[in-house]
Amino acid sequence: MTSHLVTGIGELTTHDDRFGGPLLGAALVAQDGLVVWVGSAQDAPAADRRSDLAGAAVVPGFVDSHTHLVFAGDRSAEFEARMAGTTYTGGGIATTVAATRAASDAELRASLARLVAESRSQGTTTLEIKSGYGLDVETEERLLRLAREVTAETTFLGAHVVPAGADRGEYLALVTGPMLAACAPHARWADVFCDPASPYAFDAGESRAVLLAAQAAGLELRVHGNQLAPGPGVKLAVELGAASVDHCTYLADSDVAALAGSDTVATLLPGVEFSTRSPSPNARRLLDAGAEVALATDCNPGTCFSTSMPLMIALAVREMGMTVAEAVRAATLGGAHALRREDVGHLRVGARADLAVLDAPTYRHLAYRPGVPIARGLSL
Ligand code: NIG
Ligand code: FE
Repeated sequence: MTSHLVTGIGELTTHDDRFGGPLLGAALVAQDGLVVWVGSAQDAPAADRRSDLAGAAVVPGFVDSHTHLVFAGDRSAEFEARMAGTTYTGGGIATTVAATRAASDAELRASLARLVAESRSQGTTTLEIKSGYGLDVETEERLLRLAREVTAETTFLGAHVVPAGADRGEYLALVTGPMLAACAPHARWADVFCDPASPYAFDAGESRAVLLAAQAAGLELRVHGNQLAPGPGVKLAVELGAASVDHCTYLADSDVAALAGSDTVATLLPGVEFSTRSPSPNARRLLDAGAEVALATDCNPGTCFSTSMPLMIALAVREMGMTVAEAVRAATLGGAHALRREDVGHLRVGARADLAVLDAPTYRHLAYRPGVPIARGLSL
């Protein structure tokens, strides 16, 4: 049992309501990977080890609750075409599926490791990772096995799209039958791309069937909803008690009301609006209604190839009407709630000692210095 005292924290964001905001001149003690003491530096107890952060600001390590990090291939040409005026429909997913099926475990593992390291180097200490670029039993299971090597937060997304050439009904039978059976042992969550506006994704009835089968197999639920147009995803997620509905780009007033009256977190993905040149949802409308908001990267080769949670914070502040404090909270505590995790996303006593250390005097620099790599992840 080694205790570790971290001093010289210029500003410490804990999300502990007892402190009424960030602590200045703070210190923190961790033991066995957990926070055991937080307070003013002058009151700090002795510990076996000691390090000093020389005035750096610290926030809880970012919780990136939505990524698709296991894939092969490149779609930068699709991105360039979109910036020149084409519209995102989900059709490009087929390109990534072909490249991913053709890649070896070693290639996928190496690419995944690089992206996980990239994410951590920008302050992320908890990651969710989805399958969804296999779309056959063998590859979906393979992707989840690889994801499980790096996180407990794995999500079965066999219902990402109907693969090219497949019959819709037959594919749904596969996803809710043999594919689910093979994948469930490697996944905590199940997800579905519910968006009738995409010819490749799933409508309300199909999505409900996928989610109910997954729930019966013991998986917890999350939903890709309301990304391309107003649609049924949000209300379905709320009705089935999903932990989170992600994207929420197009929301009706009734969607906002449904979220506000539920435990389902609205996870906003500002990098997707950026990289698909889509209008941004109004986070203020959700927060003012009483809904909980999370921010995540959605890192994937199609709609947002970024692992940077600080960039998501900056975009959410600039484009979605969040204050900097709200955006930091959404990228930490919000993400934790979207994953139904009590042990991350905050730095109260008992939390995992997962920090994002900022090369800056205050958390505000996360939005004030867009594109500058000021955050790094540190697990004590
Ligand atoms: O979250 N919307 C569905 N799936 C991904 C994009 C997948 C892709 O285009 O490769 C998303 O945006
Ligand atoms: Fe996604």
